Amino acid sequence: MLRLLRWIAVVVIISGGQSARAGEPPAGKTTNQTTGIALQTVLEVEQTARFLALLLDSGRAVVNDYQALFDEPGRAKKGFTPAVFERQLTDMFRSRSGIDLDNLDGSRIPSLAKKLMKELVETSTAVVADLQSEITRSNGSAGVIPAIYGARVVSHFTERTGVRMKQTALVPRNAANAPDSVERSALEIFADPNYPREKVITETTARSGVLRLMFPLYATRQCLDCHGEPRGALDRTGYPREGLKLGQSAGAISVTIPITK
Ligand code: HEC
Repeated sequence: MLRLLRWIAVVVIISGGQSARAGEPPAGKTTNQTTGIALQTVLEVEQTARFLALLLDSGRAVVNDYQALFDEPGRAKKGFTPAVFERQLTDMFRSRSGIDLDNLDGSRIPSLAKKLMKELVETSTAVVADLQSEITRSNGSAGVIPAIYGARVVSHFTERTGVRMKQTALVPRNAANAPDSVERSALEIFADPNYPREKVITETTARSGVLRLMFPLYATRQCLDCHGEPRGALDRTGYPREGLKLGQSAGAISVTIPITK
């Protein structure tokens, strides 16, 4: 119960920051009572974490959109080149955030966000380039799925930036995606059908020196192919299906960014 209360408090604090649209910096330079870190800094890092999660999720969605084409046997060239991917990622991200990746320098968002988003776009495109031989293989490429794409992207991204990102779920298919205690608490909150949709959960503590953000994922029609019903029946990647229904909570993207005072 205490744990839940702590999360609720955090959600309330952050929801104030969230309502500020991308371009509007929060007013004043108040200091957060619990962390001793300038609130301005916390809000900028929080905004950065949210953009990174949305960008990773947008790349996952683009990969998901191409799923049927990847898996079609006998198609030599799938047309999913790094350039095509980057264009679609840019379109998808613009439609979800209003931000133009082609003109990041002109966007009114924190400079930390600009720097890290550029890195994440580069990393994502490089991963699609690496995946070309699998994508164009003639016998289908079930290995190119959102989770595998995402795992490769975050591993390179963390190496390059020190910002940790992870795809996680309460009952993960891959043990490497198992939630830690902070992630588990947030996933339990997201799983409550009454919890507001797409509302991120953020936590900052002075002791940890990091900001942690959890970005909820939901089951779309394409996810159900593998994660849907009938529960327990193997999907085409060989994992038992989770039995999720359309729109249900389907895990989260976790972002951890170090905060410098
Ligand atoms: C082609 C089948 C397939 C589709 C489509 C698919 N997934 Fe997955 N998903 C998997 C597999 C396989 C893994 C485990 C990958 C690994 O080994 O790391 C996974 C892992 C995950 C994870 C990480 C936690 C875990 O279970 O290891 C999340 C979160 C997730 N999927 C959510 C989604 C969502 C949301 C969608 C739709 C947008 C989706 N998936 C679409 C097959 C799929």
